[in-house]
Amino acid sequence: MESFPVIDLEKLNGEERGTTMAKIKDACENWGFFELVNHGLSHQLLDSVERLNKEHYKKCMEQKFKQMVASKGLEAVQSEIDDIDWESTFHLRHLPVSDISEVPDLEEDYRMAMKQFALELEKLAELLLDLLCENLGLEKGYLKRAFHGSKGPTFGTKVSNYPPCPKPDLIKGLRAHTDAGGIILLFQDDKVSGLQLLKDGQWVDVPPMRHSIVINLGDQLEVITNGKYKSIEHRVIAQSDGNRMSLASFYNPGSDAVIYPAPELAEKEEKGQVYPKFVFEDYMKLYAGRKFQAKEPRFEAMKTIEPSLNSGPIATV
Ligand SMILES: [Fe+2]
Repeated sequence: MESFPVIDLEKLNGEERGTTMAKIKDACENWGFFELVNHGLSHQLLDSVERLNKEHYKKCMEQKFKQMVASKGLEAVQSEIDDIDWESTFHLRHLPVSDISEVPDLEEDYRMAMKQFALELEKLAELLLDLLCENLGLEKGYLKRAFHGSKGPTFGTKVSNYPPCPKPDLIKGLRAHTDAGGIILLFQDDKVSGLQLLKDGQWVDVPPMRHSIVINLGDQLEVITNGKYKSIEHRVIAQSDGNRMSLASFYNPGSDAVIYPAPELAEKEEKGQVYPKFVFEDYMKLYAGRKFQAKEPRFEAMKTIEPSLNSGPIATV
């Protein structure tokens, strides 16, 4: 099997631009995942973010996680658990309005570092959307506009830790799923592995790499590209040694953005538009109860759901 795609973004500025764009295209079409180096976020910022997150976990989250494990008797399970993940988590919102100032138990330097981290990731997400447009033959800015809605995109970070697990064969760190949203930028632990994606029926490790950002595509990009790019199933295997840090930042459409296949891409397909048209927040309502199920029935269900906004009927195709 080919090796996991690693893309040096700095090469976009030189004579290797063409081959780099081709690598991104291949990764989007065949993997739904790729890993970026030289992506523009400084190593110093990433090191601070990592240190502050690890300190925060120790200080504010570890005890809560241990209590949850004890209360549910997870250390002693004898059979496979399919309704709990071995994961400690909380969320930060950056767009449309940041909530970092209101989230409790965060040190001031943590808030500042995460604000800077989010700002730089937002720029990277927007650059990537335009690179995708270029590869798809869509005009520059198309995807950003498709995500805009009335208030701009939603952007947030899921801060996760996967502590050492005594029963990794019985409890997943995070059960298999595809991501609902747009484009996901992951800063993962450089030592403790665990993230895997499903490729050609086999689980493939996403290799930890210091200072890299892992990118994956969510369900909305599958819809907008009319299936040319696919959201890919992934999961986290809990490890018996080491605590895995995972900061997944989701650059998603605004809640009232209307999502549908780009007409230019649907027209090129003999079968026409195969994905539904819907309001993003309606998709998220459906996803909330079905995250760990296959995506295809979600897309089918969206063909029959009435839009919740009062913006007039939207045609479903
Ligand atoms: Fe995910």
